[in-house]
Amino acid sequence: MDLASFARRIPKIELHLHLEGAVRPSTFVELARKNAVELPPFSEIDELYRYDNLPDFLKIYDLVSRSIRDADDFHRVTYEMLESCAASNARHVEFFLSAHAHLAQGVAYQTMLEGVLAAMADIETDKGITSRLIPAHSRELGPENGLEFLDMVLAHRSDEIIGIGLDYNEAPFPPAPFQPLFERAKQAGLHVTAHAGEGGPAANVRDSLEILGVERIDHGYHVVDDPALVAQCREAGTFFTCCPSTTEATTQWRDLSAPDHAIRQMLDAGLNVTIHSDDPPMFATDLANEYVLAASKLRMDAQMLKKCALDSIRASWLDESVKRAWLADWSTEIDGLMAELDAATAASHPELTS
Ligand code: ADE
Ligand code: ZN
Repeated sequence: MDLASFARRIPKIELHLHLEGAVRPSTFVELARKNAVELPPFSEIDELYRYDNLPDFLKIYDLVSRSIRDADDFHRVTYEMLESCAASNARHVEFFLSAHAHLAQGVAYQTMLEGVLAAMADIETDKGITSRLIPAHSRELGPENGLEFLDMVLAHRSDEIIGIGLDYNEAPFPPAPFQPLFERAKQAGLHVTAHAGEGGPAANVRDSLEILGVERIDHGYHVVDDPALVAQCREAGTFFTCCPSTTEATTQWRDLSAPDHAIRQMLDAGLNVTIHSDDPPMFATDLANEYVLAASKLRMDAQMLKKCALDSIRASWLDESVKRAWLADWSTEIDGLMAELDAATAASHPELTS
């Protein structure tokens, strides 16, 4: 076994994935045709998923969202997304839903939930993978609309809906105005997370932590511009859900191998980085491939990948008893994989062990 296979085989938790960004290109085209959504011209399907900045990406993301209409469509995209996560050896997934993008097409929130929740139950039966849903508010719609969003989420609560997120174009929409939304969500017993420091400044990471009170930061890369904040996050043990492939399309850090890539700097500074896939087919990746890139380009070794997998348990919103059990079980399981990796390395490079 080599490090890439180790990276693929290690058990994982997906904590940063958007349902609508996880629609396979072939499914997107089929649903768009079924629901009469006009697509831009293309000759190869993969051309539909090309962009090199966040706003352009979000335009296609909205088009994908528009092509998901009835409960069967929501079931299909959720089932396929979780199936792909299971193929990457994910054991648990906490994923975002962009409800506003469907409400704008006249799709009822209940219709979304009907398909999504049924698919979550079906794939758990079929593949044993568990999942939880995080409706995310588009910051572009502002804080007032955010309170209506929360009313809707709270009116349709179920055990599978564990928290809220904040996403879409960060730079023009800083976190502070969303404080009342986050305060109410926490009071209602929901977990909270927010995208910050992806296209916006380090101050957005600080404000998301200090004003919104988030439990983890989605992306967070610009934290590296503020050494005092880096030190604070290291001491607090803040978890950053990082997405290597996304950085090459939406941020200023386009080369994952560069020594000054933000994620590399975050690792060097001792921050708790976990690895995720964000919008996997839309960035031509999957969760296992993100771990492989972490190994090959960010130069994370087996021990670092193990810490990352275990930190994703700690950063998750699983029950504390499940976390304790999984931490112990995964540690043993990953040590077994590491022993296989060491044995394979010794066999292929005897000079390294003599
Ligand atoms: N929605 C889907 N992917 C996103 C990203 N990378 N940043 C902000 N909003 C998103
Ligand atoms: Zn994201």
